Amino acid sequence: MARWKPALLFVLLAANSLGAEPNAKLGEKALLSRAFNPPIWTKKAYDEVWKQWGIDQKPENYHAAFAARYGLHPAPYDNGGYPMGIRETTFLFKSTIATDCLMCHGGSIAGKSYVGLGNASLDIQTLYEEMNAADGRKAQTPFVFSYVRGTNEAGNMSVFLLSYRTPDLVFQRPPRDLRMREFLCEDVPAWWLLKKKKTMYHTGGADARSVRSLMQFMMHPLNRAEDIYKAEKDFRHIQAYLLDLQPPEYPFAIDKKLARDGERLFVKHCAKCHGTYGDQWTYPNRIVPIEVIGTDRTRFDGISKEFGRYYNRSWFAREKKGWYADDYLASETVGYQAPPLDGLWATAPYLHNGSVPTVYHVLNSKARPVVYTRSFRTGVEDYDAEKLGWKFVELKNVDDQKLSPMERRRIYDTRLPGRGNGGHRFGDRLSEQERWAIIEYLKTL
Ligand code: HEC
Ligand code: HEC
Repeated sequence: MARWKPALLFVLLAANSLGAEPNAKLGEKALLSRAFNPPIWTKKAYDEVWKQWGIDQKPENYHAAFAARYGLHPAPYDNGGYPMGIRETTFLFKSTIATDCLMCHGGSIAGKSYVGLGNASLDIQTLYEEMNAADGRKAQTPFVFSYVRGTNEAGNMSVFLLSYRTPDLVFQRPPRDLRMREFLCEDVPAWWLLKKKKTMYHTGGADARSVRSLMQFMMHPLNRAEDIYKAEKDFRHIQAYLLDLQPPEYPFAIDKKLARDGERLFVKHCAKCHGTYGDQWTYPNRIVPIEVIGTDRTRFDGISKEFGRYYNRSWFAREKKGWYADDYLASETVGYQAPPLDGLWATAPYLHNGSVPTVYHVLNSKARPVVYTRSFRTGVEDYDAEKLGWKFVELKNVDDQKLSPMERRRIYDTRLPGRGNGGHRFGDRLSEQERWAIIEYLKTL
C-alpha cells in the first residue's frame, strides 16, 4: 500500500494544478465580487461628495444621483446598492471605496444595464476630481483621464502605471520615461466581441489570448508585484467569463424583409472586413492600414515604441504557460482593427474614438455632426432606434470659454485633437435605401 502513496500524491497535485482550467462561472464571481485594487477613497468621500455639486441638500435617492452625475449605471448583480464600477471594501478596518473594471466596461442601453457593454456615459475626470476633493486631497489627477465624456485615456493609464514599475513589476522611482501621449479619446469596446478576435485593442496591438494584458490596471502603487502575480489565476477565469458573454438582442421591431435585402448588401460591401454572421460565422480579423481607413490617427500614433519595447520585456509579455502557448507580445500594427459587429445596436457611439453618434452617420460620412452633445442618459427615450445610436443635438457657435470643464466635456467637438470624425467612407457610395437596408440587417446581429 505504502508504495502507492507518492503516486497518489502526485496525481492529487496534478489534479490540483489542472483545477486552474479556466472557468467562466468562477470568473464571473471574481469579477463581480472583488476589487483587485486597493481602495482609492474613503466611504465618507462617497457619502459627502454631493457637497461638490453646488446643491444645499443631499439628494434623496443618493446612489442614483451619484450614478447620474458621473455616468454610471445600476448594477445587475449584488453590489450593495452602489452603481457598477464602484465598490465598498474594507481597508485597515475602515469602510472604503474602490473602482473596478465595470466603471468602464459596465454600460446600459434602452434602460437596461449590461456587464461587458462599454460605458459611453462616464465622466471619469469629474468622478476622480470630485471624490479626491471630498477626501480633502488635491483634486487634480496625475494626467488627464478624459477629454470628452464617454471616452477615456485607458491606454495612457497603462503607460503611466508601467513607467513606475521594473520589468518584474516592482515599484520604481523615478518613473521611466515611456513617452506618454495625449488625446487618445478611447471608446470602450464590448467584451462579447473578444471571443472572435485573434488580436485586441483598437489597433489590434495585443494578442487576444493574453490574460496578463488584462491585468495592467492592477499596477496601483499599493499593489505589490506579488499581488499582481497571484491574481493571474483569477484573471484566467475572468477571461473565460469574458469569452462566454453574449451580445444583447435588439429590443425593438425589425423589418425582416428589409433586413434580408440588407444582408445581401452587407455581404457585398462590408463582409470582407467585418465578417459574416449566423451559425457559420466568419471573422477575418483584419487590421486596415491607417491610410485606407482614414479615421483619426491620434490613437494609432498614441502608444509609443518605448512603451511597446518595455512592455515586451516585462512580466506582462512573459506569459509562458504549458506546452500550447507562446509569449504574448505587444506589436506595432498598420492601422485599426475592423471589429465584429455583434450587438452593434447597443455599442453607440461608433469608431474607436466614439466620434460618430449613430450607425447611419457611420454609413453617410457627409451627414456626420461636427459639434454635438447628448443626454448621456441611456433610457429608451435617449436612443435613436431608426438611425441606431444616441439621439444628439448639433451645436453651432458654442462659447466654450463660458463653460465649466465638466460642461465642456459634454460637447463632442470633432475639430479637436483625437476627436476627428473623418474616414471609414465605405457607406458613402450607397443609396439612402441601401443604407436603411444595411441598418435593418445590423439590428439582427
Ligand atoms: C478607465 C477605463 C477602463 C478600465 C477601468 C478598464 N478598461 Fe478595459 N478597456 C478600456 C478601453 C478604453 C479599451 C480600449 C483600449 C484601446 O484599444 O484603445 C479597453 C480594452 C479592453 C479589452 C480589449 C477589448 C477588445 O476587444 O479589444 C479587454 C479584454 C479589457 N479592456 C478588459 C478589462 C478588464 C478585465 C479590466 C479590469 C481589470 C479593464 N478592462 C478595466 C477601458 C477600461
Ligand atoms: C476596408 C475594410 C472595411 C470595410 C469595407 C468596411 N469597414 Fe467598417 N470598419 C472598418 C474598420 C477598420 C473600422 C474601425 C475604424 C475605427 O474605429 O477607427 C470599422 C468600423 C465600423 C463601424 C463602427 C464599429 C464600432 O463599434 O465603433 C461600423 C458600424 C462599420 N464599420 C460598419 C461597416 C459597414 C456597414 C460596412 C459596409 C458598408 C463597412 N463597415 C465596411 C473597416 C471596414
